[in-house]
Parts: sequence; C-alpha cells; structure tokens
Amino acid sequence: MTDKQEKARLVILISGRGSNMRSIIAAAEQGELNIDIAAVLSNRPDAAGLQFAHEAGISTAVIDHKLFESRESFDKAMAAEIDRYQPDFVILAGFMRILTAEFVDHFAGRLINIHPSLLPKFKGLHTHQRAIEAGETEHGASVHFVTAELDDGPVILQAKVPVLTNDNADTLAARVLEQEHMLYPAAIKKLVTQQAD
Ligand code: GRF
Repeated sequence: MTDKQEKARLVILISGRGSNMRSIIAAAEQGELNIDIAAVLSNRPDAAGLQFAHEAGISTAVIDHKLFESRESFDKAMAAEIDRYQPDFVILAGFMRILTAEFVDHFAGRLINIHPSLLPKFKGLHTHQRAIEAGETEHGASVHFVTAELDDGPVILQAKVPVLTNDNADTLAARVLEQEHMLYPAAIKKLVTQQAD
C-alpha cells in the first residue's frame, strides 16, 4: 500500500463453516479493521461460510480440488484466482489443504493461518485431544505466517485458555474457538497497522 488511508486488501480461504471468516467480516463491518475483503474462496462447494460471505456482499468463488488431478494443478488454479484480486494478505481460515511449496513461496510474507494450538506445540490435526492427553494445563490458538513446513512459520499472535480437569476435546475446542474469534481480527489489525507504518 502506498497511501496510509488505503484499506489493506484481503482474500480469505475457507473449507467449511467459516466462523473465523465471520469474525473477520464482523470486525471489518464494525470499523475495527481497515480492510477490504476482496473475495472469499473455497476448495469445497458445500462450505457453509460461502453463503454467509455472499450475503455479506463479498465476492465468492469455488475452486473444487476434486476436479484437479494433482495438488500442484489445484494450487496453481487457486493461486491464479487469488492473484486476480491482488491481495495484501491471503487469510487461511479453516482452509483444510496441505499447500505446495510453490504456492507458499508465491504468497511469501502475505500468507496467514490460524492454528488451534500454542505453536510450536501440537502441529497438525486433533490438537485439543492431544493437548488433553499430554496433560497440558494451558492450550490455545496461534495466528502465524505460513511457510513450507506444516503449521510452522513466525507467530504473529497467540491466545491462551486453561485446560480444565473435566475438559474433553469438544469443550476445549469450544473454549479455544471463542478465543480464535477475537485473535484473528486482532492479528490482522497488527499486520495491517505494521504495513501502514
Ligand atoms: C479453527 O479451529 C481453526 O483454528 C482451524 O480450523 C477451524 C476452522 O473453523 N484451522 P472455522 O471454519 O473458522 O469455523
């Protein structure tokens, strides 16, 4: 961005319900974030979040990964679609795909993810169950830059919750998700503010 008043342009990628996406849209609508959400893209036609984004007046598109022969060809098509919007940041919000190194390199420094653990702990799936099994007393979520390694890359912000003695994976996930919905807008605010400096 050249003009400090100009809004940071975001493209959000989802695969499912899109509750983190909704929290970002809400923060933008409430004037808490100086952003323009240029598009919401999904790899799944049935992602519930698409309807919400559409009703919020945001462009949506589906690049269905099942229609591609390889991870590489899907990632190329998705990157081309994202590039149409020339985003300052590409926000992964429950986008359930392993990305190729080419895709990650193409968006280096602009590609952001939210992961439901206190990274570097519990990369990958089933983070809540694994945190309970490991006897953790604290758990949480991390917003981080995406690098070629899964759930790696510099952390931008984290939010912590206590692990309670009677927690199961679902109760813990719900407590973490509540934090995620504040964490992602806060992390984007930090990025956008740094960018405008
Ligand atoms: C969140 O828990 C997020 O941390 C993880 O996937 C989930 C997505 O939820 N990456 P939603 O689609 O944003 O509701």
